[in-house]
Amino acid sequence: MGAGPLPELPHKTAGGLQALLMFGAPGAGKGTQSQEISRQLHIPHISTGDILRDAVRKGTEIGRRAQSIMEAGELVPDDLVCAMVERRIAEPDCQRGFILDGFPRSVHQALFLDGLLRAQRRGGVVAVNIRVDQGSLLKRLTGRRTCPKCGTIYNIYSNPPQKAGICDRDGASLIQRDDDTEAAVQTRLREYRRQTRPLIERYRSLGALRDVDGNLEPQAVTAAIIHLLKAS
Ligand code: AP5
Repeated sequence: MGAGPLPELPHKTAGGLQALLMFGAPGAGKGTQSQEISRQLHIPHISTGDILRDAVRKGTEIGRRAQSIMEAGELVPDDLVCAMVERRIAEPDCQRGFILDGFPRSVHQALFLDGLLRAQRRGGVVAVNIRVDQGSLLKRLTGRRTCPKCGTIYNIYSNPPQKAGICDRDGASLIQRDDDTEAAVQTRLREYRRQTRPLIERYRSLGALRDVDGNLEPQAVTAAIIHLLKAS
């Protein structure tokens, strides 16, 4: 998006508080798109995966509970993730709205979020479903490299850094996620189909879901999301 006015998220209420939910299979581009939309709309990107990975790196109680579950590609218990999200969206930077990347991921989490938004008199929800051909997902995930310092996401095939293995922004050495092994990816895809994909139909039936073609170049996907937010 150029220098035009910032689009407001739709369904804005008097409180002006909204949630943009990013859905899509592992590797669909939720993190990539959330980072860019956060930059353009000036609202925080809340990735439950990033918060959990940070907790694992720091060796906190949450991190210790989550580590082996994440490495196997299973879902971390609902109570733990819900408490994490509740704390995060209570922070002041979320007052104008926020992007949830990777949450909700189960029916329990979706109902919890409904209750939270209602109790806090938050505005409406828009859910974006990034659709990508199944065949591309494995290559995207095994080719992903991430900056441990600033979180920028690269791909050795489609979006390599200027210097191999080094973040363009801060010079840190890029890392590969522990759950981007083929075995863990298969489990993540299975959990996605079993627990998360049904939520897409839930938000569709509520009239809050918008589909986006995630097979396009990342910039084109961002433009499509911004366009649909303006149109909603
Ligand atoms: P999480 O971190 O949320 O992982 P995920 O959902 O599996 O999604 P990914 O981060 O792998 O993919 P993405 O869609 O963000 O793709 P990205 O933009 O990076 O969760 C990890 C784990 O944490 C879970 O398995 C679970 O254990 C736990 N967890 C997290 N939330 C939880 C919850 N709510 N409840 C319970 N447990 C939870 O892109 C992928 C690659 O593709 C990159 O290399 C990128 O450069 C490239 N790419 C992106 N877009 C394009 C494009 N348009 N064209 C070409 N390449 C592209």
